[in-house]
Amino acid sequence: MKMARKLMNAVQYNCYGGGVASLKHVEIPIPVPKKGEILLKLEATSLNPVDLTIQKGTMRPFFSRKFPFIPAIDIAGEVVEVGTGVTKFKAGDKVVAFLSLSSGGGLAEFAVASETMTVPRPPEVSAAEVAGLPIVALTAHVSLTQQAGIKLDGTGPKKNILITAASGGVGHYAVQLAKLGNTHVTATCGARNLNFVKSLGAEEVIDYKTPEGEALKSPSGKKYDAVIHCAKGFPWSTFEPCLTANGKVIDLTPGPSAMMTLAMQRLTFSKKQLVSLFLVPKIENFEYVVKLVKEGKLKTVIDSKYPLSKAEEAWAKMMDGHATGKIIVEF
Ligand SMILES: NC(=O)c1ccc[n+]([C@@H]2O[C@H](COP(=O)([O-])OP(=O)(O)OC[C@H]3O[C@@H](n4cnc5c(N)ncnc54)[C@H](OP(=O)(O)O)[C@@H]3O)[C@@H](O)[C@H]2O)c1
Repeated sequence: MKMARKLMNAVQYNCYGGGVASLKHVEIPIPVPKKGEILLKLEATSLNPVDLTIQKGTMRPFFSRKFPFIPAIDIAGEVVEVGTGVTKFKAGDKVVAFLSLSSGGGLAEFAVASETMTVPRPPEVSAAEVAGLPIVALTAHVSLTQQAGIKLDGTGPKKNILITAASGGVGHYAVQLAKLGNTHVTATCGARNLNFVKSLGAEEVIDYKTPEGEALKSPSGKKYDAVIHCAKGFPWSTFEPCLTANGKVIDLTPGPSAMMTLAMQRLTFSKKQLVSLFLVPKIENFEYVVKLVKEGKLKTVIDSKYPLSKAEEAWAKMMDGHATGKIIVEF
């Protein structure tokens, strides 16, 4: 006979759409870790724009999901139980994990994570700080290293980089990571964040609501070798005159026009490129960004923290789209 599991508090929704109003506080059984999984008592979860995209149903063709669904992907917590075959972790370990987009689970007191996408949390780093990392720091890392060709040990030729929406989750990590390489960083953000983004290391910062910001023009007239595009919108015709001859736009928010641009570039053999990026997380990159935080080379800036009982406020803040750094739910 199966033992009944203890109950936990969680926030879930039962259908696509509905925004904040569809979030429901429930008491449900604590999940059971299967083979290769670990059960975590959560300490912190960070929210991401993709959590909203999943709720809207926009990703339905790629990730089927069952309802009710507990949202949120980026979590930090303590291991309380391990499934069969788990070798890397034991009860009592503090960790940070990347849940799958189709299973979610982060807005709950307990969650199961795959051993393969979990990294130990260094004791000198708080749960809230590591919880900010998974989706956005890995996206910033892969964009800069794999796509823009920046070596984070500072070697390699100097490159001019533009980072749009540099005050947001991806952008604030991207500026710091870019400055570990041999780069000159130009960044865009709102007027209230100009000094903040400068403090992260950007040499030139442009208010996105000015004519220069709308044109993405570097104040010193530099052309960009790579653009890490975290803001939304901007046609190719805005990027094109700002790029060097082999310049590349790494587009994290591709819309329908990205396909057209790509087709045109193929037809015209353009050396300037637009690349749409969708993160495929790799454990070695995850370990690397956690190590950078431990060494004090990368920091998480926290916009705001909420208890699980006020998850709706955190969700509304995310929907608002004006966070500076990361929005965290703490347990
Ligand atoms: N493709 C992928 O694999 C991938 C992975 C991660 C994220 N993403 C996408 O990347 C985007 C950024 O994610 P995020 O987590 O960084 O978002 P976020 O934290 O919600 O970004 C909010 C920040 O963006 C700033 N911002 C908004 N519009 C701007 C503009 N036109 N120019 C400059 N700054 C602007 C806001 O500044 P103000 O408050 O001053 O307006 C705010 O500080 C999202 O669309 C997300 O879905 C894609």
